Amino acid sequence: MDYSYKNVKGIYEHVLKLGMLSPPEDIIAAWMVFKNTDQVDSMLELGSYLGGGLGMFNQLLTATGHPDVKFTGVDSLEFIGAGARQSRGAWYTDHFNRCLSEHERSSLASLNTPQEATEWIQERTMRLTNTPIDLKCVLDEKELDDQQYDIIHHDYGDSVEENLTTIRHCIPKLKDTGIYIVDDWCTGAPLRTVATVIAQQEGLLFPVLWGKNKVFYAKNPERAQQVVLSMLRDPENNPKLFKGMPGSDYFGTGYKSIRMHWQAIQWA
Ligand SMILES: C[S@@+](CC[C@H](N)C(=O)[O-])C[C@H]1O[C@@H](n2cnc3c(N)ncnc32)[C@H](O)[C@@H]1O
Repeated sequence: MDYSYKNVKGIYEHVLKLGMLSPPEDIIAAWMVFKNTDQVDSMLELGSYLGGGLGMFNQLLTATGHPDVKFTGVDSLEFIGAGARQSRGAWYTDHFNRCLSEHERSSLASLNTPQEATEWIQERTMRLTNTPIDLKCVLDEKELDDQQYDIIHHDYGDSVEENLTTIRHCIPKLKDTGIYIVDDWCTGAPLRTVATVIAQQEGLLFPVLWGKNKVFYAKNPERAQQVVLSMLRDPENNPKLFKGMPGSDYFGTGYKSIRMHWQAIQWA
């Protein structure tokens, strides 16, 4: 599949099929970053949900020269599985009805354990992406051991304190060369935005690429600048659609970060 800006519509349709809740521009953004990072062996998904994101990241990483990534998914299963039978998951009912088949909905409702979630996501990923996924799910980030990850995708948390607690807990789990992705940076979860700003001020996150809803960070400025420069040199990145973010010297003299011109991608 073409993951560049030339295939927004195709990516959009694929994302919908997977039931992933992200705009296609963010898939293009992730592709651009993954293409310009060193070998990725492990990824942690905070909020693994139906595994739509996991399936997509697995495909993107495979396509950018990082096959055989070991994924870890964290999800309390309160919105899915056991939760689908209770009121707490009600907010997601429309999404389930639109994205899942009847059989998927009923099998999802019977998931009670992280092992069952792992198998459910593995089967669905294989069926929808034709790419096997090496995955282990746990219910709570506190169950993670002291492994460090190359990529962390943060997609849960409503309150500022909750999100800050997650960032403070998980940044030490990111390798020095790793990338921390905050999802729903600007919409959907506005208090995740506030927490992310505070984390930047605390020196925990250094911006690389501002996508549409996802922002890609390094955990130190040196690594952020290496990835930014590599992306700016990448001939596949159309400079009209991805350009230097004015004002990035807020993060240090000469500091560069990249803004994705997602409106222009939509017009194109
Ligand atoms: C927005 S969904 C994730 C969507 C998914 N990343 C995707 O790309 O499609 C958020 C998920 O996080 C889970 N969740 C929320 N807070 C959590 C917490 N503190 N620990 C574990 N899981 C949590 C919910 O059960 C829900 O399934």
